[in-house]
Order: sequence, then C-alpha cells, then structure tokens
Amino acid sequence: VNDASLADPRRQAAASWGTPLWVTDLDDATANLARYRAAFPGALIAYAVKANADPQLLRRLVNEGAGCEVVTGLELALARRAGCPPERIVMNGVGRTDDELRTALASGALVNAESLDDLSVLVALAGGFDRPRIGLRLNPALDAETHPHLATGAAAAKFGISLADLPAALDMLRGARLSLAALGAHIGSDIGGTAAHLALVDRLADAAATASSAGLAPERIDIGGGFASAEPAALDAIADAAGARLGRHRLICEPGRSLVADVGWLVTRVLRVQPRADAGLTYLVADAGMTDLLRPVLYGADHPVALLSAGEALPPATRVDLAGPVCEAGDVLSRDLGRWLSPAELARAGRGALLAIGRAGAYGAAMSTTYNGRPRAAEVVVEDGIPRLSRRRETLDDLLARDL
Ligand SMILES: Cc1ncc(COP(=O)(O)O)c(C=O)c1O
Repeated sequence: VNDASLADPRRQAAASWGTPLWVTDLDDATANLARYRAAFPGALIAYAVKANADPQLLRRLVNEGAGCEVVTGLELALARRAGCPPERIVMNGVGRTDDELRTALASGALVNAESLDDLSVLVALAGGFDRPRIGLRLNPALDAETHPHLATGAAAAKFGISLADLPAALDMLRGARLSLAALGAHIGSDIGGTAAHLALVDRLADAAATASSAGLAPERIDIGGGFASAEPAALDAIADAAGARLGRHRLICEPGRSLVADVGWLVTRVLRVQPRADAGLTYLVADAGMTDLLRPVLYGADHPVALLSAGEALPPATRVDLAGPVCEAGDVLSRDLGRWLSPAELARAGRGALLAIGRAGAYGAAMSTTYNGRPRAAEVVVEDGIPRLSRRRETLDDLLARDL
C-alpha cells in the first residue's frame, strides 16, 4: 500500500467531510482479495463482514467474487443487501437465536454448528427446509500466537465443537439423514507467520478423514481467517499444505483483517496539546478516540501514525503520545509517535495537525461506540484515487432516534 498515493484523497476527504473520518481504499482491498484468489484458486473466499461492514466496501468485494462470513441475522441481511448470493454466505456464531438460524437455513447459506447443543437445534430446524446446508465448526485446540482475546481456537475458548465430540456430531447428522456441508475451524485473529495455520490444516485433514470414514465426507473444508496480512508467501505456504493434505476437498477461507486492515485509515485532527513534564511526556489530544478505534485499549494494538498536514509548532518532548478526548485514562491511540514521524514532522504536529492512523481498516469503524455522546464518524471510500462518502457522520437525531 502506497501511503504517498493516498495522501491527497485522505486530505481531500478530511476537507470535504471533516474529522474524525474513516477512509478505506477499495482498490487496495480488491488487490488483497486477488492475493487470496491467486493462492487458493477455486476456493470460496468469504469475507468476514464483522471486520468492516462499510456498504461500499461490501458491495465491491462481493462484485469481485468474494462471499461473506456472517455471525448474526443482521450481518446476513447486510451480505444479501450487498448482493451476495446465498451459496457464497457462511454463517458462524456461538450463540444465535432460533430465529436467526431459521432465517439462515431458509436463505440457503451454509450454517456452521458451534456446539453439540447448537447442532441439536439446527438438526431439529432442518426438517422444515428443502436443502439445509449444515457444517461443523471445530475447536482444534490450537494456541495461536496472538492476544489471548483473539485466540478463538484455543482449547479453553468458547468456540467450536471439541475434537472429542466430532463422532457424536457426525452421529447426529447421520441420524437426521443430513450431509456434512462443511468442516472447519477459525483459530483467531492477527496471527503472524504460518505455524498455527499449518497445524490447523493437519487437524482438519485428520477430522475430515474421521468424517469420511463415518460416511460423511465433508463437501468443503473451511480454514477460517486469522492472518495478520495477505502476504502472498504465507498464503502460498498454507495453500501448498492444504493441497497436500486436503487436495480433494474444496476450500473455504474466511479472511477479515487481512483483506481490509492495511487499506483503511482513521483521519483525525489534533485539538489540544497536554504537556506532562514530570512524566517526560506530551499528549496530543485528537478528535478521534477509543470510541472510534477501540483496538489499542482492548488488545494493546499498535497502530502507525502518519502526518497528513502540519499544525502548530510542538515544543520538544522526550515522548509524544496520541490520546483521544474520551473521559478514560486508557484512551490512548498510539504511543511514542517518534517511532512513526520524523523529528521535523513531530515538531509540526501540534494543534490543527492532520494525522492518519494506519492499519485501521479492520475492527475499527466496526467496533466504534457512542460512549460520551460521541457520534460515530463518517466513512469514505476511495476508488481510482477519488474519495466519496459511503456512510455519513452520525447526528444528534440519530442518537435520539430510539428514545421514547
Ligand atoms: C468465525 C470467524 N471467521 C473469520 C473471522 C475473521 O478473522 P480475521 O479478521 O482475523 O481474518 C473471524 C473473526 O473473529 C471469525 O470469528
């Protein structure tokens, strides 16, 4: 991703629609999708809608051939609204209502059971539908190297049917004369390297063999998402292993972050400078905060920062941190900006400076809240270098709309 080529659209967008502002480059998101398609030809690439449900982004990815991974009835509706055909929709979710499951089965989407309990409800509901597509999401008991809150495939995590319960799950499907539409797992998020995904391929190959010998060969194998980025060498390594061990199965991948994280920015303006001489620290207080980008305080996530246009002079300081305006001491968006900005840039990062927080395209806007009476920021998408509004900024009327 070439920051310089987007400098203008991000600045232009801030001038047109104000800050804080999300800016997502759809051409770069499509390039990330193309990396998956090149590594996994013939696979269903089901974009995890939870990462970023910007309507223009969804439409573009679906138009480029992506499917959608969804976890609620509303996400299912967003996927359908973006034009995604049901055969390209995969639904997961550890606690869905019977209504959500009924809607998903009726739509023709693939619905994965996350527990034996879940499967018993799905099997009971399935009789009412012509061609229910039910899959199993397993818990592969794999500890991926990531933040504990993101390790969804660990043995103690709440997600997926444990491997020991696979035979019981297969019995339930067989008893109901249902086929196994997919067998898969999702081991977490923001996972670097390939070791965890390679181990996953092995576990899934063993599980697929168990299912096949029980007479329920899975129609597809779902390796989930979780890659930190769409790095071709890493994707190729997983694809090679999958080819070797799962060759005859069609694959599903469920990437979220790696399609959109590095193509999205949170653009924000510095409102105030707060020196803390005793702590050897100066805070830049911006108009974006943890209500916009929750990841730093929730996961200790480290986001890069770029200077888009200079503000007032900033007195020299040992360390400069970027904080938000929210009434929480933990509301810090990025620590030690000297890691990202040159001394000359830092010297002009005072009041009025326009900053872009990077790697913010995944689980950024999607996790934003209205805490402290802060309306959710507008969302802009960029195509061919041209920014356009995709979601307007929330207003007081929006915040009041549910009040009786
Ligand atoms: C079931 C499932 N699939 C896919 C994803 C996407 O993960 P990532 O954004 O890390 O690729 C998630 C994210 O939590 C998930 O829960």
